[in-house]
Amino acid sequence: FTHFSPTCPVSLSVFQPLQLDCNRCAIVSNSGQMVGQKVGNEIDQSSCIWRMNNAPTKGYEEDVGRMTMIRVVSHTSVPLLLKNPDYFFKEANTTIYVIWGPFRNMRKDGNGIVYNMLKKTVDIYPNAQIYVTTEKRMSYCDGVFKKETGKDRVQSGSYLSTGWFTFILAMDACYGIHVYGMINDTYCKTEGYRKVPYHYYEQGRDECDEYFLHEHAPYGGHRFITEKKVFAKWAKKHRIIFTHPNWTVS
Ligand SMILES: *[C@@H]1O[C@H](CO)[C@@H](O)[C@H](O)[C@H]1NC(C)=O
Ligand SMILES: *[C@@H]1O[C@H](CO)[C@@H](O)[C@H](O)[C@H]1NC(C)=O
Ligand SMILES: *[C@@H]1O[C@H](CO)[C@@H](O)[C@H](O)[C@H]1NC(C)=O
Repeated sequence: FTHFSPTCPVSLSVFQPLQLDCNRCAIVSNSGQMVGQKVGNEIDQSSCIWRMNNAPTKGYEEDVGRMTMIRVVSHTSVPLLLKNPDYFFKEANTTIYVIWGPFRNMRKDGNGIVYNMLKKTVDIYPNAQIYVTTEKRMSYCDGVFKKETGKDRVQSGSYLSTGWFTFILAMDACYGIHVYGMINDTYCKTEGYRKVPYHYYEQGRDECDEYFLHEHAPYGGHRFITEKKVFAKWAKKHRIIFTHPNWTVS
């Protein structure tokens, strides 16, 4: 039985740490790689299904599945969920939401802008299962980045991605993880790679263009490519497989 450390996300309504006990997990990427993959049924057979930010299932079931057990959401994506609160917090009321964000937005003293939004949401939807990351959790995740890359996240001017927070949580909670639709660190330098939009559910910048922009942004970017290198390393120690596209980690 999985019992999280004191750094684990805490609930907004029941003031309890998150406890998850998953066997075979599926992490579904938001990437345009998911388009046309028709793995929805396979994904839905996993014991715990993880999604990120506001990635929809409605209208994309055949490719991405219909169930969501845990949704890990960035503080910047909370307003996107709140555009459709009846769907996310009422209809999808079996989903657990884990919101990550910096202390300035998540503080509980009335000045945390995102925390305040979530608090209001729980007042309106008392059954919504919303957990937030603690300050301790945030520095724990920064620490993992430093340990794995040798780089200080703050000094390098970058932000961790929602994928990073999802991975760390899922490695604690799952016996095995199947990641769908995530590209590896060399994908965008591979001859003849498949060009897809960054998200499966919206038109927009090409995925690799977005990755390069972020990786080289002097300030405020996500180090998506660096993070993928670390995920590949973790996959050697944990039961993690990546498909659509396939990674060969051995
Ligand atoms: C949970 O969602 C179902 C439909 O998805 C709905 O019938 C039910 O009333 C909801 N429960 C609560 C407590 O909101
Ligand atoms: C990708 O991996 C899956 C599962 O391991 C396998 O069934 C499939 O044949 C692989 N596809 C390619 C294109 O290698
Ligand atoms: C990374 O992805 C590329 C393109 O799909 C593939 O050719 C390569 O084998 C992958 N590398 C690893 C280590 O999985």
